[in-house]
Amino acid sequence: MLDLAAFERNLAAMQRWADAHGVALRPHAKAHKCPEVALRQIALGARGICCQKVSEALPFLQAGIRDIHISNEVVGPAKLALLAQLALRAELSVCVDHPDNLAAIARAMAQAGAHITVLVEVDVGQGRCGASDAETVVALARAAQADPHLRFGGLQAYHGSVQHERTREARARICASAAATAAGYAELLRGHGIAVDRITGAGTGSAEFDAASGVYTELQAGSYAFMDGDYGANQWSDTLRFDNSLFLLSTVMSTPTPERVVLDAGLKSTTIECGPPRVWQRDGLTYVATNDEHGVVKVDAGARAPALGEVVKLVASHVDPTFNLHDRLVAVRDGVVEAIWPVAARGLSR
Ligand SMILES: Cc1ncc(COP(=O)(O)O)c(C=O)c1O
Repeated sequence: MLDLAAFERNLAAMQRWADAHGVALRPHAKAHKCPEVALRQIALGARGICCQKVSEALPFLQAGIRDIHISNEVVGPAKLALLAQLALRAELSVCVDHPDNLAAIARAMAQAGAHITVLVEVDVGQGRCGASDAETVVALARAAQADPHLRFGGLQAYHGSVQHERTREARARICASAAATAAGYAELLRGHGIAVDRITGAGTGSAEFDAASGVYTELQAGSYAFMDGDYGANQWSDTLRFDNSLFLLSTVMSTPTPERVVLDAGLKSTTIECGPPRVWQRDGLTYVATNDEHGVVKVDAGARAPALGEVVKLVASHVDPTFNLHDRLVAVRDGVVEAIWPVAARGLSR
């Protein structure tokens, strides 16, 4: 269930933050996989969207979104053929961190008669994908410039592990170091006469600092629209903070003892890699154990236990994989269902 008022406040807050700092917002659609969400972000001023997988981009393209960044490396002939088909229909960009992959992308584009913008992904401290030496970065940019089907667009400098650093002080410090690394690569390229139009990155936890860095030109945050338990545990500033807008409505299916109730939402309703879901605004109720279709809630002494059949609101600990478990998003305003939006890219992970 999406609380539209909180959702709209979140969208406006991030867009205002990006506008105030003169950077573009390109929200990540992997968070929600729902074109209706992305269309509202674009209507408020977002430049386009990010997708993490090629197939994920399809429903967004079908919904009319024409500016899509695949914020990831795409490897393998079938996926590159699909990438080329998408590139024929949209302004598409993709990340590279290996010359062989760049050559394969160029071949796929040539075969389809398509063109694509290439961003060199650099590792700014996460230790995931991304080139981490100057020679590779320059060689990739030059190779992209030289190919008639590719256009060198700039750098992707996303730092995932900073996002859930709990204190703002730690996030500020790590973001400053990531931005300095990204700026170093950009300077290096400019020194070789290569223009760097875009430096893209940032998630919900780092957007505050990345926007103000003077280095990033584009923010990729996604979860801010909804928030979740993991982001809820971060420290936030008064000027940029987000409200919980996404809830799972579960039903009490069993009340075996006064200290224990069982909800009908387990692993098939919410993921737990960032901890169990949280019971929303009910003192003394803690979701303590998850089975496939069951969620066990401990009731503290003195707390009011929910009755059999009662609906209990949960906040997922991690929105992205939780969205991927659901077909529909029920959008509610003032307690009234306003719309039902398909989570159209659910399961599209190729
Ligand atoms: C490349 C990339 N960009 C942006 C994001 C968005 O982050 P968030 O949903 O935490 O705002 C992610 C999330 O994992 C990511 O991998």
